[in-house]
Amino acid sequence: HQTEKIRLTNMHEAAADYYHQILLKSDMAEESLNYFKKRGISLEVIREFRLGFAPKSWDYLVKQLLSQGYTENEMEKAGLAAKSSRETYYDKFRNRIMFPIQDFRGKVIAFGGRGIHDELPKYLNSTETPIFSKSQNLYGLSNAAGMIRQKDEAVLMEGYMDVLTAHQFGIKNAVASLGTSLTPEQGKLLKRYSSNVLIAYDADAAGAKAAYRGLEILQKLAFRVRVLKLPEGMDPDDFLHQHGYQAWVQLAAEQALSLVEYKLQAAMEKYNVHTIEGKADVVQELLPDLAKIKSQVEKDQYIKLVASTLNISIESIYADLRQIKGIVS
Ligand code: UTP
Ligand code: MN
Ligand code: MN
Ligand code: MN
Ligand code: MN
Repeated sequence: HQTEKIRLTNMHEAAADYYHQILLKSDMAEESLNYFKKRGISLEVIREFRLGFAPKSWDYLVKQLLSQGYTENEMEKAGLAAKSSRETYYDKFRNRIMFPIQDFRGKVIAFGGRGIHDELPKYLNSTETPIFSKSQNLYGLSNAAGMIRQKDEAVLMEGYMDVLTAHQFGIKNAVASLGTSLTPEQGKLLKRYSSNVLIAYDADAAGAKAAYRGLEILQKLAFRVRVLKLPEGMDPDDFLHQHGYQAWVQLAAEQALSLVEYKLQAAMEKYNVHTIEGKADVVQELLPDLAKIKSQVEKDQYIKLVASTLNISIESIYADLRQIKGIVS
């Protein structure tokens, strides 16, 4: 229903304004404002991304939105309020710093809220609503869209803080897939802006897994993908604060892996390459990707790389490649 969706979106806009004003002006927000400072987030980024604070209270937002003409029923539908056992409505987000999630036009359609101590879950996110589906949106896209087009590349990260810090350090083409690995819908959304993606997920087991899945999805959508390998245990936010922008640029230029390089590394870890069978397994896993390379020069270089990495002959890879020809498009 169109008018319902517009009201839900307007309600999110009102909530974002409210949380933002509280963060900047209220005494209740002192600790959260300090938290942003401690995390190195500037006032400029706080304004640009309309960051906020949901106070520690039962129903501040409910009262605010009631005063603006929204019903409790609508608030519940928007995922901003919930009904208690006593049939009263309370704020869904309490005592959390707030990250408005905007659609590609910049309209607030959902929130992520982070506890500033050790609250669980670390991030509380809006549930799926008539205006928000997590799998179809990218955090920061409306802020990054112009620069993604201009640089003809998007940098894909995991989290809210990664994107904020990236923008603050001048990497203004950064977006986040909201924790989960990239979905095909998110890929299609990105494709409107560029066909090049640099994946910069957290350098941990979960991040590596998500990077691999994201890589496959982007490949199917005909993106040219590179994967950045950060030092073990770090995410882009950590890396930028510790090493700075220049180190990031250098890492991206010198260490980002292409699809085949990344898959080769992954396959080297998956199989026992000390055995002949293990080497054959690695080659088999890479053949479909090698076969798809259109440039003969590029294909030749990659085959050389695989051959030297496995200490096998180039000719044997070409022979295997001929065998799968016709099977792979
Ligand atoms: P991380 O655990 O890597 O958090 O989750 P982070 O982004 O580095 O946050 P900081 O630096 O600890 O503050 C990556 C992303 O996964 C989603 C969020 O989008 C988060 O930014 N996530 C994570 C959730 O939605 N819920 C969670 O409880 C944790
Ligand atoms: Mn992580
Ligand atoms: Mn992670
Ligand atoms: Mn992280
Ligand atoms: Mn982090």
